[in-house]
Amino acid sequence: MLVQKFKKQFFLELSKLYPETEIQSFFNILIQHKLNLSRVDLALQSSLEFNNSDLDFFQKALKELKNQIPIQYITGETEFYGLHFNVNSNVLIPRPETEELVDWILKDHQNSPSIKILDIGTGSGCIAISLAKILPNAEVFALDISAEAIKTAKSNAVINNVTVNFTEANILTLSDLSNKFDVIVSNPPYVRELEKEQMQPNVLANEPHLALFVENDNPLLFYNKIADLAKSSLKKNGHLYFEINQYLGAETVELLKLKDFKNIQLKKDIFEVDRIIKASLI
Ligand SMILES: C[S@@+](CC[C@H](N)C(=O)[O-])C[C@H]1O[C@@H](n2cnc3c(N)ncnc32)[C@H](O)[C@@H]1O
Repeated sequence: MLVQKFKKQFFLELSKLYPETEIQSFFNILIQHKLNLSRVDLALQSSLEFNNSDLDFFQKALKELKNQIPIQYITGETEFYGLHFNVNSNVLIPRPETEELVDWILKDHQNSPSIKILDIGTGSGCIAISLAKILPNAEVFALDISAEAIKTAKSNAVINNVTVNFTEANILTLSDLSNKFDVIVSNPPYVRELEKEQMQPNVLANEPHLALFVENDNPLLFYNKIADLAKSSLKKNGHLYFEINQYLGAETVELLKLKDFKNIQLKKDIFEVDRIIKASLI
């Protein structure tokens, strides 16, 4: 089949589900992923035909997009902080907001001669691996409760040619972190069940609920536990960094104050909502 003919079918079948710009973006991503062609390359080859295996891939992708599967799960890859990451349904797709958390840590620590970092709830490994890549003097540790997430994160560390010490563990049942860190960072689950209604149907249906949700009556469960562990596992001059629920900025600041953290800074993200927090012990 001619690629251009398939393109017409692709746009037609997705037109009721997605805006045209998004359909175009899906098409470009799939063409780049499967045929290694840019949009311009494709425009120059108007009589290009799919072979059978490519056609199977594109028809399957079209069906998956109609079923609201995120494009990153279809191609199995995404970009975070300029690096390549493999993703699958066991890990959250890294978000641009989280790049700002990495950026903050990098700005604060780029001149540190040596630094020990722990990433809690690592998922795809995006935070830990970006930090290990850009801070060559860092010794990076990461943990997650999901064995499948750890497997994916380990493969991402190999792809990006960095060393990260991964552990499968439940942070909620740990009594200590058995090490001292300069930086503890976490983007833990923080979406309350009551916020499900505001979420995109494709996120709800496809991304791991273990990575996303907390109960309405204890939304800061992870922040509470991680802050307690950080009190004894941060070095004297160490820093704690969190990505947070946009509606719980004031509550998270209050929690850290009650635990006697100092220099608490709350920042907004690119969408102008409360999103990242930093605090220290002294
Ligand atoms: C919001 S995702 C963040 C993933 C990744 N760090 C990112 O920023 O894209 C939260 C992660 O916490 C992990 N998680 C959930 N409960 C956990 C627990 N009790 N102990 C450790 N990790 C947990 C999930 O498996 C998930 O990978």
